[in-house]
Amino acid sequence: MGKIFVDACFKKETPYTPVWMMRQAGRYLPEYMEVRKKAGSFLNLCHNPELAAEVTLQPVDIVGVDAAILFSDILVVPNEMGMRLDFVKGEGPVFENPVRSKEELDKLLCGSDAADKLTYVYDTIKIIKERLSEDKALIGFCGAPWTVATYMIEGQGSKTYAISKKMMYQNPELLHDILKKVKEVTKLYLENQIKSGVDVVQIFDSWASAIEPDKYDEFSWQYMVEIAEYLKEKYPHIAVILFPKGVAGFLDKVYGNFDVFGVDWSTPIELAKEKLGDRYVLQGNMEPTRLYSKEATTEAVEKIQSIMQGKNHIFNLGHGILPDVPVDNAKHFINECKRVSKK
Ligand code: CP3
Repeated sequence: MGKIFVDACFKKETPYTPVWMMRQAGRYLPEYMEVRKKAGSFLNLCHNPELAAEVTLQPVDIVGVDAAILFSDILVVPNEMGMRLDFVKGEGPVFENPVRSKEELDKLLCGSDAADKLTYVYDTIKIIKERLSEDKALIGFCGAPWTVATYMIEGQGSKTYAISKKMMYQNPELLHDILKKVKEVTKLYLENQIKSGVDVVQIFDSWASAIEPDKYDEFSWQYMVEIAEYLKEKYPHIAVILFPKGVAGFLDKVYGNFDVFGVDWSTPIELAKEKLGDRYVLQGNMEPTRLYSKEATTEAVEKIQSIMQGKNHIFNLGHGILPDVPVDNAKHFINECKRVSKK
């Protein structure tokens, strides 16, 4: 049986528009919370292939999505480059020693020295592939060099990205050195994910909107495109999704060899359709907090379907699902996407 998700990425005919949700394997599922408790901590869960595979597969069985997304985190990359990482309750990820100088950057592992340390991720993929139904796709992922670099530089999540952006304008060479180093590891990391069995890869640029549109290509997009082009050249049968969050002001400048453009919820999907719908498959883009209301969900799903009808499209949320969304509402979203798009 073919995978309708992969077919949709390559603009092939499908029986309905496939659907998955960003952050679908996570805290809104009681089954996830149980496994995480068993693992002891979030990072232990990422490091345990058997348990990580189990939580990856949960949303496929429970909410009925067309693709599983590997359970891991974008920050395992700088972690294996040598930065000590903690997930602090209520605060999120914290790096003890942020990178703010060339000397600090030079201490980190580069290329395959770092990528080859992520064996627990590759082992997780192999276990998932053994268990995932043949008609479902497995999505691997990484963070965009810019988004990963903001955590490395700030040391934690940030509202202003002040330290990273000060570097952007005062010392752009250093920021480019950081981005290049992350990009080199990331390319090989995704290549190893592909060799381990993923069908699709998505690059998350969650903090794209922190960069002004005139600077977005220089400090983020070009690096994402370089990773995508490296993979498309060697693995043309693997679909590549780029998800830059909040870049409506950059749509006219989008370029590169990749398959799917992930539209976030703040970008009108009709605008993305007008600018990019002929060149790329579009993914998205329901406002994730609509999941708190079944009526609001149905309204958005119908609207997105009516706009995207006749174009290549994958249903998704326009960013991650929140931890307190009722599971029944998530199921409702998936069912509605399938209902409205059945051919
Ligand atoms: O279904 C899935 O998508 C699960 C796999 C996944 C996780 N993180 C698990 C996770 C993916 C694809 C990510 C990507 C990720 N990680 C991004 C990009 C996507 C996005 O949402 O923008 C970013 C920015 C991160 C960094 C990160 N990891 C943050 C900021 C946090 C804390 C915020 C929070 O929600 O608590 C994490 C932790 C994290 N990563 C959790 C999960 C399930 C929560 C940990 C837990 O408490 O169990």
